[in-house]
Amino acid sequence: MSTQDLAWWRHAAIYEIYPRSFADGNGDGEGDLRGVIDRLPYVAGLGVDALWIAPWYPSPMADGGYDVTDHRDIDPRFGTLADAEELLDRAHALGLRVLVDLVVNHTSEQHPWFRQALAAAPGSPARARYFFRDGRGPEGGEPPTNWISAFGGSAWTRTTDPDGSPGQWYLHTFAPEQPDLDWSSPRVAEDVDGVLRFWLDRGVDGFRVDAASAMAKPAGLPDADPALQVAWTPREWADHPQWDTDGVHDIFRRWRRVIDDHPGEQVTVAEAVVKDPERLARYVRPDELHTAFNFTFMHASWDATVLRSVVDDTLASLAPSGAPATWALSSHDEVRPVTRLGRTGGITDPVLGRRRARAAALLTFALPGGVYVYQGDELGLAEVEDLPEHALQDPVYRRTAGRARGRDGCRVPLPWSGHHPPYGFTDGPGAPWLPQPATWSDLTVEAEDGDPGSVLNLYREALRLRRGFRDEPGLVWAGDPSDRVLDFRRGDRLRCVVNLGPTPVDLPGPPTLWSEPGSPDGRLPTDTAAWYVG
Ligand code: NOJ
Repeated sequence: MSTQDLAWWRHAAIYEIYPRSFADGNGDGEGDLRGVIDRLPYVAGLGVDALWIAPWYPSPMADGGYDVTDHRDIDPRFGTLADAEELLDRAHALGLRVLVDLVVNHTSEQHPWFRQALAAAPGSPARARYFFRDGRGPEGGEPPTNWISAFGGSAWTRTTDPDGSPGQWYLHTFAPEQPDLDWSSPRVAEDVDGVLRFWLDRGVDGFRVDAASAMAKPAGLPDADPALQVAWTPREWADHPQWDTDGVHDIFRRWRRVIDDHPGEQVTVAEAVVKDPERLARYVRPDELHTAFNFTFMHASWDATVLRSVVDDTLASLAPSGAPATWALSSHDEVRPVTRLGRTGGITDPVLGRRRARAAALLTFALPGGVYVYQGDELGLAEVEDLPEHALQDPVYRRTAGRARGRDGCRVPLPWSGHHPPYGFTDGPGAPWLPQPATWSDLTVEAEDGDPGSVLNLYREALRLRRGFRDEPGLVWAGDPSDRVLDFRRGDRLRCVVNLGPTPVDLPGPPTLWSEPGSPDGRLPTDTAAWYVG
């Protein structure tokens, strides 16, 4: 085996921390780095290898931290650069690697570069870091292209000149507070090389690449097919000027050289929501990014045939590049699995959802490659679907005039202990920045810790057992692709059986681990999984 075959990230379990909602160390109602540092032993105790910290940089929080004003510092609400350095040291001492978020498709509109660009004249070097264009139509009153924003509406916002008259337009793939950088500008590319080196020099073990598919725009900014511009559906887009254009790969090749020049084994993971596994495989060619999130798996329906074909397509498409697959059930952008998998016919059944989410966790952890766990999924938290409207902060809610409630429901601060909000999330005067449900007292870390049948203890046991088979290459299916039972082996070290059919199925003997506390008749009930670990 080569060094690359043995690299830690090829089979790592990585825990996503959304810092604002993880744990509050200073009592202001928002999570922070002190809260993370204090709870690192909890993360290490889950049995993961690394953590990915969602943006911790200075930000006006127009998009939950994905609107950065300084890529080389820490937002005061989260702490200081010294806290980040302490976090890295403490994590490393516990055997945990740390990935940070690299958000450079866009900046905040409060970034000094954008403020300079707004103050500068059309055609100036300051404006060349972003996409400023004249509008179309009478008096430039129409956007320069028909491009749409991921969060609703046009991807262009018009500026106002210093004398108060309407000026040029600027491009924002996401919210208007997130102007897109123009990656054809050498000054942008050189500065971001410096950002990579800044964090590598501080000891980070990798980068999660935000909005990787949006980063390059074709010269001349052509209009998209108007038929495609009705809704933000990048998973259906091919040959779309806003998304997954060939130019993105030049950026990743450049970053790979920076990272390969640095000692150590850092990893990159692309957030690339693209049409199919073949398109995704382009991001992980040997001289580009190391890994990519597998959104096809994350969004797959709870259906054995669908899941089996997603697994096969993923592995087949990655085989030429040799990159490992990654598997995840959710993130800070997704509906929690308990809710997503419990939805049938427009109604959410949390009992069904939790049962399926437990089985889905065993399926996910059994697959070859890396896995990601989003904070709180290890507690079996459901999406909070009844947040009061005044509490909603996701720009999606505002930009769609309330038609979409957005992603706040998976970002509610974690419950750690006690029977009532704030469940140990904070011990200061500040209320949690999003209200927690009154029904979480059985779902705190404290409550689940002492319950052998809890989701928390299932995750801990599964992640512990996973270390015994995770470097076994590939998988071999038993049964037929149309079966409603998924049954596969990882060499002699694991057999995983998941029953997605309507009736219980026979098992070859008592499993090492069940997704539900053992079935009395020794059969595998619907929506449960079993592992045999050799
Ligand atoms: C993906 C991030 O995960 C999401 O939270 C954010 O809104 C967009 N990229 C824009 O940065």
